[in-house]
Amino acid sequence: MSQKIQTLSGYINEYQRSVHQPEKFWGRIAQSFHWQKPWDNVLSWDFKGPDIKWFENAKLNLTENIFERHLFTHGEKAAIIWEPNDPKEAHRIISYRELFEMTCQFSNALEAQGVEKGDRVIIYMPMIPEAAVAMLACARIGAVHSVVFAGFSSSALADRINDCEAKIVLTSDGNFRGSKNIPVKEVVDEALEKTSTVEKVIVCKRTNSEVTMKSTRDVWWHDVIKGQSIDHKAVTLDAEDLLFILYTSGSTGKPKGVVHTTGGYMVYTQYSFLNVFQYEQDDVYWCTADIGWITGHSYIVYGPLLAGATTLMFEGVPTYPHAGRFWEIIDKYKVNQFYTAPTAIRALQAKGLEPIAPYSLDSLKVIGSVGEPINEEAWHWYHDHIGKGNCPLVDTWWQTETGGIMISPLAGITPNKPAHASLPLPGIQPVIVDAEGNELKGNNVEGNLCIKFPWPSILRTTYGDHKRFKETYFSTYPGMYFTGDGAKRDHDGYLRILGRVDDVINVSGHRMGTAEVENAINEHPRVIESAVVGYPHDIKGQGIYAYAICDREGVSDQVLIEEIKGTVRKIIGPIAKPDEVQIVNGLPKTRSGKIMRRILRKVASKDISNLGDTSTLLNPEVIAEIIDGSPSD
Ligand code: WTA
Repeated sequence: MSQKIQTLSGYINEYQRSVHQPEKFWGRIAQSFHWQKPWDNVLSWDFKGPDIKWFENAKLNLTENIFERHLFTHGEKAAIIWEPNDPKEAHRIISYRELFEMTCQFSNALEAQGVEKGDRVIIYMPMIPEAAVAMLACARIGAVHSVVFAGFSSSALADRINDCEAKIVLTSDGNFRGSKNIPVKEVVDEALEKTSTVEKVIVCKRTNSEVTMKSTRDVWWHDVIKGQSIDHKAVTLDAEDLLFILYTSGSTGKPKGVVHTTGGYMVYTQYSFLNVFQYEQDDVYWCTADIGWITGHSYIVYGPLLAGATTLMFEGVPTYPHAGRFWEIIDKYKVNQFYTAPTAIRALQAKGLEPIAPYSLDSLKVIGSVGEPINEEAWHWYHDHIGKGNCPLVDTWWQTETGGIMISPLAGITPNKPAHASLPLPGIQPVIVDAEGNELKGNNVEGNLCIKFPWPSILRTTYGDHKRFKETYFSTYPGMYFTGDGAKRDHDGYLRILGRVDDVINVSGHRMGTAEVENAINEHPRVIESAVVGYPHDIKGQGIYAYAICDREGVSDQVLIEEIKGTVRKIIGPIAKPDEVQIVNGLPKTRSGKIMRRILRKVASKDISNLGDTSTLLNPEVIAEIIDGSPSD
């Protein structure tokens, strides 16, 4: 626990040290881990290549740092508390020793199925402990996992399988979410028709739904672990060996595989977990994310388990079977740290105070927020009614690419300021730049957020495409990592994140590239051209608004709109389904043929009083038509 900062002056000192002597700083933090062989060099980097290496030539296995490092001190401690979707079903409490045995057994099973170090494994599973076991077993044998959110469609799943040339897919017979039972195995079957690299599918029994098992390919989880030893010698990995790939949307059409490696990610997720949440040994910590997102990777599985914490994993949704489900779970397990997304807070806020009334919530010490800017109203509601006014609220800013929390208050240490992610963690050097890339020093400045120095869990590349990695993150402002977010440093020096400045929409805390949604819409045979923008949405933060030019002959707009929504749902998944679709005859274009999205954003946001300069438009007449045709409520 020596990694934990205790006071504000302690934070300031640590921060100074981390900036002045980063290698010494991280070298000291990394010493508390178990390395099979120490590093030659803490860091070597170049943001031009780019080429970033942490703990060069060190050897380790991350899971030894979860298990062997802790088993002697807290083998019997709960590692995972699992709460099922349906509160009437039994919960599970899995100790560190049991989790170790499950991981070893599944590691042996994966090896017996032919999975070797470096092979890619797709995990398309519900929020059950076996999903965490799957991730840990991959880490144990040196296979590279790529978790795909189980709400993605078969074609989104196929794209990811093909991009990383996965050898094996892990899934379940079904997925309980609220009142639904989602047939995920069918989705996998459909995806595999479009792929050629997958040799085996391991199916974990969860819902007891009927599934078709293809005899040469599909095997049951319970069968493959049968007879396998509950001991497994961890494979030796290099600090820079791949730990996982996680696909995320960007401003171009195709999701990119963000690559995280072993040593740096391990060091940073544990460090940030302990410091942001100020976790203490007997605490119960709960993050409500899905393991399909980076938050689930870093702060349900890796960070907490590395820190020897008890991490709660919830299979269900916040409103099933009732709107007090989160609060009921907090009281049931006496949760001390609770970490969720603004979209969930706003949705629950909309239900009023009644669903909270039966619960005391008095175990809570820290509450957290992640995924999108938290508006002040939601911040205060969360702080007052869930934190009861006396829990520090950590508004944590970070990204799939950053691997861990970058800018956030440290609970109880950094003074809280509503809607401000506040200050960088030690080792993180954010800068705000203007459009030309000049650093805006001092307070009261606003611009684009970059990071000018590497941190241990920075992504190392985008899978199979290093050029794209360079172009996306290091070419807008050469020499710096560009986040894609806008930010403001206020008069106190506190950072406030203003949201994306690129063509990425943040819907309910999930990233969606507008180009990706447009590509899906364009698959509809009647669509000629489309443009997608974000607009403010009360619950989701941002909603998806699509404009489409279509062949309208013989079909009503209403039918077209529903079909377009259905097409996106089918091609990407329900999370990408547009909230609004407007059929138009033209899209505003510049003389060079570029769609003027600024105008489309304003119309979608019902902010048409000042459309700005439209003199460069090729077809100004379409604007009036678009405004007339937009929904009026
Ligand atoms: C946004 C999620 C404001 C931001 C961990 C970022 C936030 C994107 C915050 C990354 C926050 C995340 N305040 N905005 N506290 N946290 N974001 O990759 O726009 O799913 O670039 O990672 O979410 O989303 P991602």
